[in-house]
Amino acid sequence: MEQIVIEGKKRLEGEICVQGSKNSALPILAATVLCKGENIIYNCPKLTDVNAAIKILKYLGCKVKTQNNTVVVDSTNVDKYDIPENLMHEMRSSIVFLGPLLGRTGKAYLSTPGGCEIGLRPIDLHIKSIKKFGVDITEGYGKVKCDVKDKLNACEIVLSFPSVGATENIMLTACTAKGRTVIINSAREPEIEDLALFLNKCGAKIYGAGTGKITIDGVEKLLSAQHHVIPDRIMTSTYMASCAVTGGKIKLNNINYDHISPTLSAFLHSGCKIREYKNSIEIEAPERLKSIGTIRTMPYPGFPTDFQAPVMTMASVAKGTSVIIENIFESRFKHACELIRMGADIKVEGKISIVEGVKNLTGTTVTSTDLRGGTALIIAGLCAKGKTVMKDLTHVDRGCENFVENLRILGATIRREPYS
Ligand code: EPZ
Repeated sequence: MEQIVIEGKKRLEGEICVQGSKNSALPILAATVLCKGENIIYNCPKLTDVNAAIKILKYLGCKVKTQNNTVVVDSTNVDKYDIPENLMHEMRSSIVFLGPLLGRTGKAYLSTPGGCEIGLRPIDLHIKSIKKFGVDITEGYGKVKCDVKDKLNACEIVLSFPSVGATENIMLTACTAKGRTVIINSAREPEIEDLALFLNKCGAKIYGAGTGKITIDGVEKLLSAQHHVIPDRIMTSTYMASCAVTGGKIKLNNINYDHISPTLSAFLHSGCKIREYKNSIEIEAPERLKSIGTIRTMPYPGFPTDFQAPVMTMASVAKGTSVIIENIFESRFKHACELIRMGADIKVEGKISIVEGVKNLTGTTVTSTDLRGGTALIIAGLCAKGKTVMKDLTHVDRGCENFVENLRILGATIRREPYS
C-alpha cells in the first residue's frame, strides 16, 4: 500500500502539461470493440481505470499494446460477448461496453457495475433505451443479459435525464443499427463529442454530438481509426484549484479552455486572475481566496459535479460563506467529513452544503472517499498548516496521472511512499 505525505503552505508556481481525459478515453477504448482492426488512441492517460478497460478488451479477444500515452487496440478477433464480474467491478464505467458488444456480437452478458462512493449509480436509463433497439434484456442475480432478437433497429429515444453513460451506450448501439436513431435530451459533455468524433472517423454517421439532440444513421460496419483524446477538463480545474488555495501562479498546457469554462466562475468569483492562451491557461491566485458564492452542479455546460469536491476545498479556506448544491449524485459530500477533521467549517443539509471559510486548515491523516474527494483532500493538504497524510491511493490512481509528480514540479512538498 502507498500513502501521500504533504507538508502544506507551499505556494505553487511553474507550468505542467495536463493529462488526457479519463472520461473520454474509457468510452473510446470500449468503442474499439465495434471498430474492427487496429485502433491507435493517443493522449490516453495512464490510470488504473484505463488498465481495467484494457483488461476487458484483452478478455474479449482484442490485442492491446501500450507505449506511454498511446494505446493500440487490434479488435479484429473479438470472440466473446460476456464480461466477468471481477472485471466489471474493477471499473464503474464498464457498462459502456454494452453498446459495442451488442453491435459487434449481437449479445452482451454483463454484471451490474454497482454503485460507488458517490451514489447508487443505477443503469435503468441504459436498459430502457437499449430495449428500444429490439434487444431482449433479462436482469437478475446481479447480471444483465442482452440478446439482439433479430437485428438492431434504429429508434427515437427521449432521455428523462441527460445521462452521459446512457448517451454513450445509445450512440454506440445505434452506429450499426438499421435506420436513423435520434436521441432527445442527450448529454452534452465534451466527452460525448470526442466519442462521436472517434466513431465518425471509423465510418459512423453521428450528427449533433455535444447538443441535446443527436442523430445516428446506422452503417453496416465500422473500421478502425487513430484518435487523440481531448484534455482532461476536470484535472485541469483540479490543478487550478491546487494553485488557488496556495496563492500561487501556474500555467497549464495541453488544455481545452472551452471545456473548463463552466468552472471559471468559481475561480474568478474568488479573486483569481485567469489568462487564456491557445492550448494553455495561466491562473494567478490572491493571497487568500474570497468566497466562491453559490455553486450548483448541473449537466454540462453547467458546473461539473466532478469538480464539486475540489471547489469545496477552495471554499473551506476562502474568506466568507459559500454554498454548494450537489444536484447530480445523491451522496457526493463524503469528503466534507475529512475536510471538517482538517478544521473546515462545513454544514451538510441533504444536497446543500454551507461552507464558512476558515483562515487555515490543519494537517492530519485523512481517508480518501472517492476519486474526486481524494483530490480535494490532497488540495486541502497543500494549503493546510503542518503535515497531511492520505492513505490508500486506489481512488486517486483511478483518475489522476502523475498528480503527485506534477504538484512537486509546481513546488509542493509532497511525496508518495509505501506504508505497511
Ligand atoms: C459520467 O458518469 C462520468 N464517468 C462521471 O465521472 C460524471 O460524474 C458523470 O458522468 C456526470 O457528469 C465517466 O464518464 C466514466 P450519468 P455516468 O449517467 O455516465 C443517474 C468521475 O469522477 N442515472 O450522467 O455514470 C445517476 O445515478 C466520474 O470521473 C440514473 O439514474 O453519469 C446520476 O445521479 C464520477 N440512471 C446521474 O444520472 C441511469 O441509467 C448522472 O449519471 C444512469 C444514470
